[in-house]
Amino acid sequence: MKRVFLETYGCQMNVADSELMAGVLERAGLTLVDRPEDADAVLLNTCAIREHAEQRVLGRLGDFARLKARRPGLLVGLTGCMAQHLRGRLLDHARVLDLVVGPDAYRDLPDLLRRAAREPVAVVRPDRDETYGDLEPRRAPGVRAWVTVQRGCDRFCSYCVVPYTRGRERSLTLTEILREVRRAVADGHREVVFLGQTVNSWHDGTHDFPDLLRAAREVEGLLRIRFTSPHPADVTEGLVRVMGEGGAVCPHLHLPLQSASDRVLEAMGRGYTLARFRDVVSRLRDAVPDLALSTDIIVGFPGETDDDFERTEGFLRETRFDGAFMFKYSARPDTRASRLAETVGEEEKGRRLTRIIELQQSISAAMNDRWIGREVETLVEGPARRNADQLYGRTPQFKAVVFIDDGTPAGTLRRVRVTGATAVTLFAAACEAGAAPPPPLSG
Ligand code: SAH
Ligand code: SF4
Ligand code: F3S
Repeated sequence: MKRVFLETYGCQMNVADSELMAGVLERAGLTLVDRPEDADAVLLNTCAIREHAEQRVLGRLGDFARLKARRPGLLVGLTGCMAQHLRGRLLDHARVLDLVVGPDAYRDLPDLLRRAAREPVAVVRPDRDETYGDLEPRRAPGVRAWVTVQRGCDRFCSYCVVPYTRGRERSLTLTEILREVRRAVADGHREVVFLGQTVNSWHDGTHDFPDLLRAAREVEGLLRIRFTSPHPADVTEGLVRVMGEGGAVCPHLHLPLQSASDRVLEAMGRGYTLARFRDVVSRLRDAVPDLALSTDIIVGFPGETDDDFERTEGFLRETRFDGAFMFKYSARPDTRASRLAETVGEEEKGRRLTRIIELQQSISAAMNDRWIGREVETLVEGPARRNADQLYGRTPQFKAVVFIDDGTPAGTLRRVRVTGATAVTLFAAACEAGAAPPPPLSG
C-alpha cells in the first residue's frame, strides 16, 4: 500500500484538510498520485452541507466500486464531513468502503489505511482538542495558501450540519499560525487566507482575531491577507479598525447574511437582526475604502413567506454586494430545522433562487463596471485559463483580472488599468511603470 489518490469536495476548509492529509501521508512514506487508476487507495474528502453535495459523492463512489471490481485490492476510503455525518452506517451501506475517517482522526491516517487493508475501519469519534496545530500540510503550489486557524463551530445555526460534522470550536495558537504563515511564504506563497467557520471569533486565550491579523501583517514577504468566513455577530470595532488600516489585510469580506427577514434569521438562530447586519456593513464601508463585500443567501427556509423572500431581494438591491453564493434550503438530518415542516415547495424554491441569482448577476456586473477606467494593483497568479496570451490575477478586492501577458511573473504585483468588465471578470491593460495613483471611485 503505497500510492494514494485523494479527491476533495466541499469548502476551503476541506481543501486545507486535504493538504493536511497529504502532509501526513507523505511523511509516512506514502505517495500522492493524480489518477485513481494509479492508486492502491482512493480517499474522498467529502462535504455534507446540502443533500446535493452528498449525492455527488455517492455517485462518485459508484465509479470507485467499478474500479474496485476490476482491481480487488483497491482500498476505498471516505473522509470529511460526510464520514462524520453518516458514521458507521456507510460501511454496511455502500459495501464498497473499506475506511471511514472523521475530521478529527487525520493524524492516524497512514495507520488506518494499513488496518483497512485487513478489515473495514471507521474512526468517527470527535476530538474537541485536536487542532493539528503541530502538523505541516503539503500545500499545492501557487500564490495563495490556505491556513486553517480554527476548527469546528459552536453556533448551531438551525439548518447547518457543520457543528455535528466538525465538532466544537477550537483555535490554533498565534505561534502555530505564524509558523505556518512563515512556512507558506518560504515555500513561495504570497497571500494567505485564514480559515474558520466563524473565523473572526478566533482567539487563543491571549490574542484575538485583530491581533492575529496585525501579527500576520508583519510577516516579511507576505503581500496579502484574507480570511473566511467571518460571522456578522462577531464583527467587532477592533476588526473594523484593523481592516481600515489596510496594509496586507485586503479590503474584501465574505459576510454571510442568509436572509433579510428578522423572522427567518431568528428561526435560523443566526444571532443577529437585519438592523445589526446593516450597521456592520455601514461601519465596514465607512472604515475600509473600496471594500468588496460578498454574502451567502438561503432561500426556501421552512416558513419563508413571499414577504420574507422579498425582504431579502430588497436588501440585495439596497446593499449591492459584489457577489453572492445563493442556495436552496436543504434539510439536513440531526439539525433543528430538519424537524420543521417544509413550507416552500421545490418548484417555488427554484423560482426564488433564479430570481435572486438574476438580480445579483446584474448587481455584480454593475459593481464591476465601476472599476472601468481605474488603476488597480493585481497580484499575478499565472496564465489566464481561456487565453494563453493573457495573465490572470486578483485585485485586493478579490476580483479576477486578465490582461495581455507582459512577462510579469506569478506572485508579483502589477498595476493595470481596467478597460472592461463582466459580472465575474475585469479586463485590463498593464500600466506604464510609475503611473499616477488611481482616481477616487465615484457613484
Ligand atoms: N460558517 C459559515 C458558513 C459555512 S456553510 C457561516 O456561517 O457564515 C456555507 C453556506 O452554505 C452557508 O453560509 C449557507 O448559506 C449554506 N448552507 C449551510 N447549510 C445549508 C442548508 N442546510 N441548506 C442550504 N444551504 C446551506
Ligand atoms: Fe454552520 Fe452557522 Fe456554524 Fe456557519 S456559523 S458553520 S452556518 S452553524
Ligand atoms: Fe465544509 Fe461541507 Fe464540511 S461546507 S465544513 S466540507 S459540510
